[in-house]
Amino acid sequence: MSKLINSPEWIAVKQHHQDIAQNFSIKAAFDQDKQRFDKFSLQYDDLLFDYSKNLIDETTLPLLINLAERAQLRQKTEAMFSGSIINTTEKRAVLHTALRNRSNTPVYFGGQDVMPQINKVLDKMRVFTEQVRSGKWKGYTGKAITDIVNIGIGGSDLGPKMVDTALKPYGIETLRAHFVSNVDQVDIVETLKPLNPETTLFLISSKTFVTQETMTNAHSARKWFLNTAIDPAHISKHFVAISTNVKRVEAFGIDPENMFEFWDWVGGRYSLWSVIGMSIALYIGMDNFEELLMGAHIADQHFRHTPFEKNIPVIMGLLGIWYNNFFEAETYAILPYAQSLKYFADYFQQGDMESNGKSATITGEKVDYNTGPIIWGQPGTNGQHAFFQLIHQGTKLIPSDFLAAAQSNYDLPEHHDILISNFLAQAEALMRGKTEAEVRRDLSHQPDLDDAYIVSKIFEGNKPSNSFLFKKLTPRMLGTLIAFYEHKIFVQGVIWNINSFDQMGVELGKVLARAILPELKSDELITSHDSSTNGLINTYKKLRK
Ligand code: F6P
Repeated sequence: MSKLINSPEWIAVKQHHQDIAQNFSIKAAFDQDKQRFDKFSLQYDDLLFDYSKNLIDETTLPLLINLAERAQLRQKTEAMFSGSIINTTEKRAVLHTALRNRSNTPVYFGGQDVMPQINKVLDKMRVFTEQVRSGKWKGYTGKAITDIVNIGIGGSDLGPKMVDTALKPYGIETLRAHFVSNVDQVDIVETLKPLNPETTLFLISSKTFVTQETMTNAHSARKWFLNTAIDPAHISKHFVAISTNVKRVEAFGIDPENMFEFWDWVGGRYSLWSVIGMSIALYIGMDNFEELLMGAHIADQHFRHTPFEKNIPVIMGLLGIWYNNFFEAETYAILPYAQSLKYFADYFQQGDMESNGKSATITGEKVDYNTGPIIWGQPGTNGQHAFFQLIHQGTKLIPSDFLAAAQSNYDLPEHHDILISNFLAQAEALMRGKTEAEVRRDLSHQPDLDDAYIVSKIFEGNKPSNSFLFKKLTPRMLGTLIAFYEHKIFVQGVIWNINSFDQMGVELGKVLARAILPELKSDELITSHDSSTNGLINTYKKLRK
C-alpha cells in the first residue's frame, strides 16, 4: 500500500467517510442547522462560492485539510509560484502565474527575473492588437482585417476559443474570431469558405510548432491564401506565429518580426495567459485582456495567501478528492448556467484530464488510489433536456459545479430570471430529492396508481453540488474563475503526489499515427500490426478508392 493510503490522515478521512456515507442527509443537515449556508459558503469579491449542498459535516473539511497539510500543499504552492522545477519529468518550471502577475513583483527563474520579458511581449502585443483593431494594419490589398483565424489545438485552441466565446459582448464588432483545430479538413474548409484572403489574419498558435494537426492546417491556410494573393511576400501581412520555437517558425516562412514568443515554463493548457491569448486580445482589446489577467492574479493571491479553510480552490480540490477517492465517484460535471460559458467544461476537460490523468507518482511508483476524474458538462438549461435525468435518478454519483451570473451581458431580462430559476431549482432538486410520501401526497387525487409509477417519480436526492454565483461575466471574473479551477487541479495533483504538468499519455498514439501514415499511402497489403489494426487499414484503403 502507498504511503498516502497508509497515512493516518487518509485513514482518518476513510473512517469519517464510513461514519457518514450511509446515513448522511444533506437535506436533514439543512433542517437541523439553520447556519449551514453561512458555515459552508464563502464570499469573494463579487463571487459567492456555496458548497453547503455537499455530503459534509463540520468535521469533514478539517480532516481533508490534514491531507493537504500532509502533502505540503503550502510549500508546493510556493515552489510553483517561485519558479522551482516542479514539472520534474520535463525539468521545467510552471510559471503561468507569472504571466498574470499584475503586481509586477520579480519572479525569478534560473536566477533571472522573468517579468521584464513578459512585459516586453505584452507591450508588443498591445501595439500589434491596436494596429489590427484600429484598421491601421492593412492586408496586402490595403484593406483592414475583418477576420482572425486562430490555428492551434489543445491548449493552443481551447483557451482562446473558450474566452472569446465567453466574452463576446466585449468583442469588437469589426472583427470576427474563428478557430480551426481539427486535422479533419472539414474544420478548415468550412471555416475559410466565407472568408476573404484580403482581410483575413491567421494566427498560427503552437508552443512547439511541430504539432501535426496545426502544421497541416497552417500549410492548407497558406495555400488557400496564396491561391488568391499569389506572391509569398504578402504572407507577412496575413500570418503571425505564436510559439516558443523560433527556428520552426522561420522554417515555415513566417518572418520572426511577426512572431510572438512565450517560454518553456508555460504549459500548453495554461497558455491562454501568454501570447497564445492573442486572439483574445485582438477580439476584446488589450485593456480587457489585462483585466482577464488581473482576475486571475487576484485569484492567485487568494490561493497563495488564504488559510485552507477559507481558500476557494483548496476547498474545491478537497471536495473533489472526497468524492473521487472516498465515494469512488468516477466523473465530475461542470454545469454553467451561462451559454457564454459553453466551452468552459471542454476547456477544463483538457485542463483537468491532461493534468491529472496519471497513474504513477512523481517518483515513479504506481498509484493505488484513483487520480483525476472524468470531467464533462454542458450549459444549462440544455443539459436538463439531455443528461440530467441520469444525475437525478441514475445509479451514479455525479458531483457537479453550477456556475451562474446574477447580471446578464444581454438585454432580455425575462430570459435571465428563467435561466437562474432553473439553476437554483436543479441544485435544490439534486439535494432534496422527492420521497415516496411526497409523491403519494402529490398524486393523491389520482386513484389506482401502480407502485412502479410511484417509484418512477421518487428522487433519492442527496446529490452534491457546488454553486458559483457571480455578479457578471466580465473579463476579470472570468480570469478569476479560470484560475480557481486551475488551482483546484493543482491541489489535487499535490495530494495525489503526481506530476500535473506533463502529458506523456498523448505521445504513444502520435508515434503510432506517424508509423501508420506511410502505410496508408502504400499499395501493399499491411500485415505489420495486430489483425484488427491490419484489417482496418486494409479495409480503409479498399473503401477510399
Ligand atoms: O495534447 C498534447 C498537447 O501537447 C497539449 O498539451 C497542447 O496544448 C497541445 O498538444 C498543442 O501543442 P502545441 O501548442 O505545441 O501545438
